[in-house]
Amino acid sequence: MKFLPMIELLNDARAGGYAVPSFCVWNAEAMNAVLRVASDLRAPVILMNGPCEFSVLEPELMSAVAHTVAGRYNVSSALHLDHGDSPELVKTCIDVGYTSVMLDYSNRPFAENAAALRKVVEMARPHGITVEGEIGHVGKADTMTMEGEGDSSLTQLDEAMEYMEQTGVDALAVSIGNAHGQYTRLPKLDFTRLEQIHSSINIPLVLHGGSGTPETDLKTAISLGIAKINVATELVTAMMKTLLSQQNSGKKIWPPITLGKANNAIEAVVDKWFHVTGAVGRD
Ligand code: 13P
Repeated sequence: MKFLPMIELLNDARAGGYAVPSFCVWNAEAMNAVLRVASDLRAPVILMNGPCEFSVLEPELMSAVAHTVAGRYNVSSALHLDHGDSPELVKTCIDVGYTSVMLDYSNRPFAENAAALRKVVEMARPHGITVEGEIGHVGKADTMTMEGEGDSSLTQLDEAMEYMEQTGVDALAVSIGNAHGQYTRLPKLDFTRLEQIHSSINIPLVLHGGSGTPETDLKTAISLGIAKINVATELVTAMMKTLLSQQNSGKKIWPPITLGKANNAIEAVVDKWFHVTGAVGRD
């Protein structure tokens, strides 16, 4: 099935009281693993690539692979540029078939972030492409992860409202105590802040740094307007654990076999996320 504009999936999620999991995928096998589980569970899903994944394949090729794999499955999905770091990369992704784009200027001054996202909306909207912006800044929980450079700063309600007014973005990533990467201690999500944002801003909200968030917190966040939850670290960890356990048990790593096992581990993680977000059976 063709990729849909991401906003269609997020609007359905908001109306239905669930969230759509959004997975960072870096190759055809990971895309296939995610879409196979989504299709089996009748769950809408978002595939994401960003500068990190583009070190494996450039956007044009990544998009071509994603479109080919998605074409094999009859399940609603979107292809999203995650943490785009320049207007040029956003334009490239629009040109090569992404159905949603994020320009992450969240660690730049407010005026620069808002002006840049306004331009992205002007560029994307005529093509029916969804735009995600971020206000406040979601940093890192560890030193490994690629996303979230610099310290976190929480989303301020007045700034978020002004940002919406100035940019017209379709979806808003919020910083409420979440962080990218492997949490070394449990995150303390600020639900009062989220509730205030949710009751003042009438668009789907996005939670970055999904990996490692307790299930009860995820459910509360979804009840307070989170319609998209980003996941990367748990997929990478599942893959790395498979590779390392093979190596540590003294068996040789034979890529076609070992990577096949890693995909099974990725599928188990993806399956869990569809259940936790309530996305199962929603497509
Ligand atoms: P995690 O790696 O913590 O799951 O976060 C992923 C993410 O937010 C990508 O944008």
